[in-house]
Amino acid sequence: MSKTFAGIILILAVIIGLSSCEQEVTYTHSISKQEAVSQSTGNFELCKTCPPGFELTDEGICKLRSLYQQYASLKNQGVGGLKTALPEFRDGFTPQQIDLGRYLFFDPILSADGTISCATCHQPEKGFSDGLDRSVGILGEPIKRGAPSLWNVGFLKLFFWDGRDSTLESQMQGPLFSEDEMGNTPEKLLESLNSNSAYPALFEEAFPDRNNAEIKLPEIYTAIAAFETSLISLNSRYDQYAHGFHGALSKDEIEGMNVFRSFVARCAECHTPPLFTNQQLAVLGTPEPDGKPLDPGAEIPYKDGSLRGAFKVPSLRNVAQTAPYMHSGWFKTLRETVEFYTKGRGHAVPEGENLYLHWHIWEPDLSNKELDRLVDFLQTLTDESFMPKRPDRLPSKS
Ligand code: HEC
Ligand code: HEC
Repeated sequence: MSKTFAGIILILAVIIGLSSCEQEVTYTHSISKQEAVSQSTGNFELCKTCPPGFELTDEGICKLRSLYQQYASLKNQGVGGLKTALPEFRDGFTPQQIDLGRYLFFDPILSADGTISCATCHQPEKGFSDGLDRSVGILGEPIKRGAPSLWNVGFLKLFFWDGRDSTLESQMQGPLFSEDEMGNTPEKLLESLNSNSAYPALFEEAFPDRNNAEIKLPEIYTAIAAFETSLISLNSRYDQYAHGFHGALSKDEIEGMNVFRSFVARCAECHTPPLFTNQQLAVLGTPEPDGKPLDPGAEIPYKDGSLRGAFKVPSLRNVAQTAPYMHSGWFKTLRETVEFYTKGRGHAVPEGENLYLHWHIWEPDLSNKELDRLVDFLQTLTDESFMPKRPDRLPSKS
């Protein structure tokens, strides 16, 4: 019975996965005549089907479909059982908008000198992070913080480590127009896209009824946001367990899950399933790189001293892929990260700082064995089955 269930999930994932446009070509190893022509002329065509995990409605928009939608919501009360609904989700984009966003996301044409794309710092192969403690932008220097994963960002209400933004559309203007990230200006960005040989036609496809008007900034933001919301990871072994397939987790992993959810470790109070974040800001007192002053975190955007050193609780989905960890990338491994929580409340707070540490940060005194089990459990949160495809060719290079 349980094996059948896992089988069905797997088959579903494969079937839905196959419906992604560019992937069909990869799987069948055959290029249709039409595609061969479009490759030789440099023409691009946008996908007309939704990404895996989404269903195309009669109105032509993509709606998320997940088993979690059959469960009741907690309405922000308590931690809940494994069968708890997901937070509200941002969907309703068309397949063409999502696919245009995919091209833009991977295209370095978005940066001032054409060298850096969103995917430079948010690499699909590295959990949409970059493997660096702090990301490196257009100036070749490490910037202030590490790149968070982008899996499941369509569920988030707060963006950036310090929670200073609340929509995907305004968030991306940070990296696009910061001198030390992509270094672009709105004028130059519009100039490069409008004068490109492929993009104007792609924007027509994604935003019909615009009558060949010039590309506008909100269209760029909508398309990239649409792509970002397509990055769904909800079919890990943990999820299969949560939906009722008990063979999906080993004994050690279940032990780890129980520690994670226990009131001794308290992980689930902040990293609340099923998203593994309660989307709040919390002061943990995590360390800064050697010689760096304390990062004030959310104190700055919220102008609130009690949020000094507060950061957004990150989702832990695909966390095994996104080392190093925390806003500063200080911890190299999951084991080190998890150990932080049991080394004593405030042990890494610099002298002279008086932080308002969160009440769930305390002295759980976890044994080495419990820490190992926690790491085992965190590794069950990996699911990259809906990985989008890197474009074979980019419009800017055509
Ligand atoms: C130079 C590296 C770099 C580039 C390029 C970059 N990012 Fe980021 N991104 C980061 C870093 C670092 C953060 C966290 C910064 C902070 O919290 O202060 C971040 C944060 C984010 C977040 C917030 C995630 C969360 O959980 O809060 C999103 C969404 C995002 N980036 C999307 C994009 C998009 C879309 C682009 C392209 C337009 C892009 N990024 C380009 C490094 C980069
Ligand atoms: C009070 C809320 C809270 C509790 C309780 C909590 N965390 Fe966290 N967790 C956070 C915040 C906030 C961050 C980011 C801190 C930073 O960047 O400095 C974080 C970061 C992490 C990260 C790194 C994620 C990444 O992408 O870099 C891991 C792993 C993690 N927590 C696991 C756990 C485990 C395991 C427990 C239980 C032992 C736990 N957390 C308990 C709030 C919490």
